[in-house]
Amino acid sequence: MRRVLCSLLFVMCVFFAHAANVDSLLNVMTHKEKVRLVIGGGWGSLFSGFNIPFCGKQQVPGAAGVTHAIKRLGIPSVVMADGPAGVRIKPRQHGKTAYATAFPVGCCLASSWDVGLMEEVGGALGEEAAAYGVDILLSPGMNIMRSPLCGRNYEYYSEDPLLTGKLAAGMVRGIQGKGVGTSVKHFACNNQETGRMHNDSQVDSLTLFNIYFKPFEIVIRESNPWTVMSSYNLLNGERTQESRWLLTDVLRRRWHYEGAVISDWTFRRRTRRQIEAGNNLMMPGDVLQRMDLKKAFKENADGENMLDTCVKRVLQLVEKVQRAREERRWREPRLEEHAVLARRAAAESFVLLCNEGNTLPLSPDVRIALFGASSYDMVIGGTGSGHVNAAYKVNLSDVIGNSVGERLKSEYRRWAKGNKHRNKAAGFGFMQKYLGRGALKEMPLKREWIREALDSADIALVTVGRQAGEGRDRERSDFSLTGEERDMLCAVSDEAHLRGKKMVVVLNVSGVIETMSWRSLADAVLLVWCPGQEGGNAVMDVLTGAVNPSGRLTMTWPMRLEDLPSTRNFGDEDVTRYEERDSVGYRAYFDSERIPAYEFGYGLSYTAFSEETLTDGSVLVRNTGRMAGRHVVMWMKNRCLSSFRKTRLLQPGEEEVLRE
Ligand code: BGC
Repeated sequence: MRRVLCSLLFVMCVFFAHAANVDSLLNVMTHKEKVRLVIGGGWGSLFSGFNIPFCGKQQVPGAAGVTHAIKRLGIPSVVMADGPAGVRIKPRQHGKTAYATAFPVGCCLASSWDVGLMEEVGGALGEEAAAYGVDILLSPGMNIMRSPLCGRNYEYYSEDPLLTGKLAAGMVRGIQGKGVGTSVKHFACNNQETGRMHNDSQVDSLTLFNIYFKPFEIVIRESNPWTVMSSYNLLNGERTQESRWLLTDVLRRRWHYEGAVISDWTFRRRTRRQIEAGNNLMMPGDVLQRMDLKKAFKENADGENMLDTCVKRVLQLVEKVQRAREERRWREPRLEEHAVLARRAAAESFVLLCNEGNTLPLSPDVRIALFGASSYDMVIGGTGSGHVNAAYKVNLSDVIGNSVGERLKSEYRRWAKGNKHRNKAAGFGFMQKYLGRGALKEMPLKREWIREALDSADIALVTVGRQAGEGRDRERSDFSLTGEERDMLCAVSDEAHLRGKKMVVVLNVSGVIETMSWRSLADAVLLVWCPGQEGGNAVMDVLTGAVNPSGRLTMTWPMRLEDLPSTRNFGDEDVTRYEERDSVGYRAYFDSERIPAYEFGYGLSYTAFSEETLTDGSVLVRNTGRMAGRHVVMWMKNRCLSSFRKTRLLQPGEEEVLRE
C-alpha cells in the first residue's frame, strides 16, 4: 500500500514536467476518474441573470464551464469563458467588481483587415482572461458568413475562407501569447441559428474543404489553438460531435491537430459515440453523460482505449493550463489601457461606404442635429454568449458637444428610457433578456422636431441601429429598413437638403442590410457595426478625421437578398442544402450580370492611393492624397482572395512595398 502511495505521489510531482507523465498519470487513473475528466463540471451561469452553480464551487462566476478537478492526483480544474468580443463573466466576483472590456465584435474587427490588430486585441483579451482566472477563452467564432441572415454573423469574420483563417490565426496567437487557451468554433458548418441543435447542413465534399473547412485548416496550421469546439449541428446526416470522419480523419489525420476537441454546450447526446469520434471533452457536462460512459466502456477494451485517448488529450490540456498559470503575469485587468485599444481598434475597422463631395471629415466646430434611437443608445455588441458585461458604453449623444435641437434630444432620451421600445427580434427572448437589453426600436419623428433641430444645425447625423444574437437568425425583414427608419431617413434628408445641409448616416448594425433604396438620400455613409464600449468616441474619431477610415468589407453587401443563392436554402429548421456549393458571397457574382450594392473588399478613405505591381509581384502603394492613411492590397488568384496586406500609416507622398 505504501509503495502504491509513493509511486502515486511521484507521478503527481512530475506530472507537469514532461509529456510522458501524462501516460504515467493515465496508468494510475481509475475508470471513474477518467470518466470524470472527460465530462465537464456542469452548467455555468450562462445567463448573467441566473447563476446556476457548477457541481462544486464556482471559481469564476459567470464563466461558461469548468472541467472536474481530480484532487487525489493533483489535477486542477480548467475554467472556460466566452467569448469573441470580451471576457464574459459576471461583473461581481467574490465581492469585487469585475467588468471586462467590450471590444468591437468580430465582423467589425475583421473589417480592419489587419492581422496585427487582431493579435493586439487578442493579447488584451488574453490578459483580461488571465487576470480573472479564465484558462480558455471560447473564441474566436469563425464560421463562414454563408447568408447575411445568420444571427451570429456579428461574431464571425467573413464570407471568405482565407481572410477568416488568417484573421482568426492572429486572434489566437494574441490570446495564447498571454498564456490563455482558445477554442476555435464552431466546427463545422454551423452557418445558421435556426434549428441549430438538430439542423443538418448538407454540403458536398469539395465545397466543404474549399470553403467551410479552410479557415479551420489555416488557423490550426498557423496558430495551433489549444482547443477546437465541435458544433451543435449535423453535417451530412451525422452530428459533428459524433463524426469520426470530421474529428479524427480530417482534423487529426489530415491536419495533424494535436489539441483537444471540446463539444459546444450541448445537452446529453450519444456520449459513447462522441468519445469514439474523437470529441475529447463533453461540455458543459452532466451526470447522465458520466453514467453513459461508465456503462458503455466497462468491460470493453476497445472502448477503454478510446476513452484513454480522450483522457490523454484532456490531460495534455490541463498540463498546458497548469504551465501557463505559473507563467501568467497579469493579476489585474488593465481596463483603462484596453478601453483605449478598444477605441482605436473600432476606429481602424469602420468602413466608409460613401462620401459625396467630401462631406466627411467634419470640421471640429460643426453643429450636429442627431437622429436615430441608437445615437442615444448605441448597439455595442450582440446578444447571447458573445455579450460582454462592460462597465459602460459611450453613445454618440454622450460625446457630441455641439449637438443641437433640445426638443429632439429630450424626446430621444425619453424613448430610450421606455423598455417597451426595445426590439425583441434579436436572439432568443431569454438570451436577450439576460444577455443584452436589445436594440431600441426607431422612434417615430415629428416634422417640427426635425425642423427645429435642423434650423440651428450645420449637418444632420442619423444612426440606423440593428442587433442580432445567438439562438435565432435574422428575419428577412431585418435586412430591409423598417417603416420608421425609412420615414426618418426620408424626412431628415428632405429637411436637411431643403436647408442646403447634408445628411450623414452611421450604420450601427450587427449584420448586412439593404442600402440601394435609400443610399442616394445620404451624403455620406459610415459603417461602424457593433463597435464595443468605446463606440461613440471611435465614431467621432472617424467622422472628424482624427482617424482616417481604412476598413474594408469582409463580405458582399447584395442589392437584394435573392442575389445570393444561399437565400434559397437558408433557415430551414431540419435540413439546409448548400446547393449553391462554393457560390458564397463574392463567388456568387462570377459570370453573372448582377452587381452587388457594395462588393467584398470595398471601403473608401479620406485620402487616395496608387498601386503599382512590381516585377516580383509585390505592390508599391503610394499615398497620393492630402491626408495620412492606410491602404489594403488584395491579391486574387482564380478570382479568389489569395493574400492581403495592409500598409502602415502612410503620410501624403509616402510609399510602402507590400509583399504577398
Ligand atoms: C455557444 C458557444 C459558447 C457556449 C458557451 C453555446 O451556446 O454556441 O459559442 O461558447 O454556448 O457559452
